[in-house]
Amino acid sequence: MGVNHCGLVALLALSISIVEISSKFEFTNIMCNSLDKQFSDFEYCYIKSVNRSYKYVSIKAKLFKTPITKINGVILKRFNGYNGYRPFMFNITLDACRFMNNTKSNPIASYLYDFIRPFTNMNHNCPYDHDLVIEKLPIHFVNHQVTKVLPVPEGDYLYETNWMAYDIRRAVVKVYGTIS
Ligand SMILES: *[C@@H]1O[C@H](CO)[C@@H](O)[C@H](O)[C@H]1NC(C)=O
Ligand SMILES: *[C@@H]1O[C@H](CO)[C@@H](O)[C@H](O)[C@H]1NC(C)=O
Ligand SMILES: *[C@@H]1O[C@H](CO)[C@@H](O)[C@H](O)[C@H]1NC(C)=O
Repeated sequence: MGVNHCGLVALLALSISIVEISSKFEFTNIMCNSLDKQFSDFEYCYIKSVNRSYKYVSIKAKLFKTPITKINGVILKRFNGYNGYRPFMFNITLDACRFMNNTKSNPIASYLYDFIRPFTNMNHNCPYDHDLVIEKLPIHFVNHQVTKVLPVPEGDYLYETNWMAYDIRRAVVKVYGTIS
């Protein structure tokens, strides 16, 4: 009984470590699209590969007008036999000011926000009347989020955010990645 139990624990530990080793995140593409250039535009938006293990995403959005009021975040996954990506797990829209005032108020939004939290200057209460930056969000940080914090199955993913002011979409940011 004791031996079996130890064996089971060892097997579990082994399978967990195999999962951890084999789960690996890669950025595959990024798209930043301003839908209203009077309102905002992107100064840069790119994936940089420094070397095989250090890759990061940087985005800078310039705001010209009224502040962002709502943000929609969706995670989509590519399914076999389906022509494109379908929403997977989360599709949430929230009042940016209310959420940033208390990021614990919404656990799902909090998980999505945690992907960028240490790398962004949005890290404060409203108003956001300055350029919005995500600077050098590294692949190993995203990898930690999708394998350790909340493990996500293998596949091709799209993390889409829609930035709204007064209920009109002003900008879209799409980050594509693969977990293998
Ligand atoms: C990749 O680049 C980073 C930053 O320059 C460096 O710290 C790291 O050692 C490099 N890794 C490899 C495997 O060269
Ligand atoms: C997310 O939900 C909103 C509101 O229900 C909807 O308008 C939008 O199309 C959804 N996004 C995706 C990618 O399906
Ligand atoms: C932020 O939270 C504080 C304390 O909970 C509250 O008094 C204030 O009205 C909130 N502000 C916004 C913009 O929600």
